[in-house]
Amino acid sequence: MRILGIETSCDETSAAVVEETGDAAKPWAIRSNVIASQVPIHREWGGVVPELASRQHIRDICGVVDRALDDAGASWRDLGAVAVTQGPGLVGSLLVGVSFAKAAAVAAGLPLVAVHHLAGHIESLVLENGEIPLPAVVLVVSGGHTNLYVVEERGHYRLVSRTRDDAAGEAYDKVAKLLGLGYPGGPVVDRLARQGNDRAVRLPGTRLTHPDRNAPDLKGDLDFSFSGVKTAVLRYVREHGPFTEREIVDLCASFQRTVVTVLIDRVFDAARRFQAKSIGIAGGVSANSRLREELRRRGEAREIPTFLPSLQLSTDNAAMIAAAGLRKFRAGAVATLDLNADAALPLR
Ligand code: KG4
Ligand code: ZN
Repeated sequence: MRILGIETSCDETSAAVVEETGDAAKPWAIRSNVIASQVPIHREWGGVVPELASRQHIRDICGVVDRALDDAGASWRDLGAVAVTQGPGLVGSLLVGVSFAKAAAVAAGLPLVAVHHLAGHIESLVLENGEIPLPAVVLVVSGGHTNLYVVEERGHYRLVSRTRDDAAGEAYDKVAKLLGLGYPGGPVVDRLARQGNDRAVRLPGTRLTHPDRNAPDLKGDLDFSFSGVKTAVLRYVREHGPFTEREIVDLCASFQRTVVTVLIDRVFDAARRFQAKSIGIAGGVSANSRLREELRRRGEAREIPTFLPSLQLSTDNAAMIAAAGLRKFRAGAVATLDLNADAALPLR
C-alpha cells in the first residue's frame, strides 16, 4: 500500500508518498518527499511569522501534493490512505494541511490518519534505518521541542522528560539572532562552531535535579533547560562585545559544546536507566554535526547501537508523517472527518 503524507505544522509545506515494502525489518520505502521551504520569507523577520506561514501554505499545498504524486509516479487511485500532521505546531499552518487532507480523503474516497508531529520525527529513524531495537530511548530535538521518549512497543511513545523552558533549536536560533547571524540559527552556528575553540568561553550546562511542579508525573531529573546558557551568551555579548570574527567563531563553538554535551549526557543517562537496546536522536537539531559525531562516538564506546535520520529527514518533512501514518493505520487508527488541528497536541 502507498500512503500520502502531508506536513504543514510550521514553515515547510511538504507532501510525500511512502510505500510498504512487505519486509518487517525495513517496513517502508520513500517514493517521493517534496518540501517547499518558507525560510526566505521568514528570514526577513528574524523568525517564523505565523500569519505569513499559513498564507504561504495555502499558496503551496496543491502544487506540492501534485509534485509528490508525480515524483512517485502515482495517481490518487494508487493510494490507500492520507496521513496528515494534526499537531502540535502553529494552528493556522496546521489547519491548511488538515483541511486539505480531509477534502482529499473525501474526494478520493480514502481513509484519513491523524499524525502527531513528534511521532513523525521518531519514525523518521525507522524510514531509512529499518526497525530499531526496543526498548529504545529517542530524543526529539527541534526548534519547538526537546522531548525524551522511551519506545517499548512499536508505535507507543512514553514521554520521560522534556525541556523546562527553551527548546535546544530555539536556543540556537536566539543565540544566532543575538550574534547577527540570521535565521534559522542552527545551521550557521553549527558551521561556524566547527572552526572555533570550544573551550574559549565558559558557559553553564544546567543540570536539573528537582521535580517540576507543572509535570508531577515526570521525575524531573532527566529534564533539560536551555534558557540559562542562552542568557549566559547574552550577558557575555553585553560585557565583551563587539567581537572579531575569531571571537564569534569561538563563542559558537563553546555554545555548541555546552548544548551538545547536555543533550548527549542526558540521553545516555536515560538509556542506562531504561536499559535501552538502542538510542535515536531525531528532529531539526539532529542535523547538528557535533551531536551526530558524539552520538556515534559514545554509542560505539558504550556498545549500544545509535540511530539518526539523514540530513534531509532531520528537519520537517512529510515522509516521516507518512511513515508514522502507516504505523497508525496498520494499528487500526483512522480519523473521522471532524478531525481538527491541535496546536498543543500531547504525545505521551
Ligand atoms: O524539526 P524542525 O525542522 O522544526 C521544528 O519542528 O521545530 O527543526 C528546526 C530547528 C531550528 O531551530 C533550527 O535552528 C534547528 O532545527 N537546526 C539546527 C541545525 N539544523 C537545524 N540546530 C543545530 N544544528 C544544526 N545543524
Ligand atoms: Zn519538527
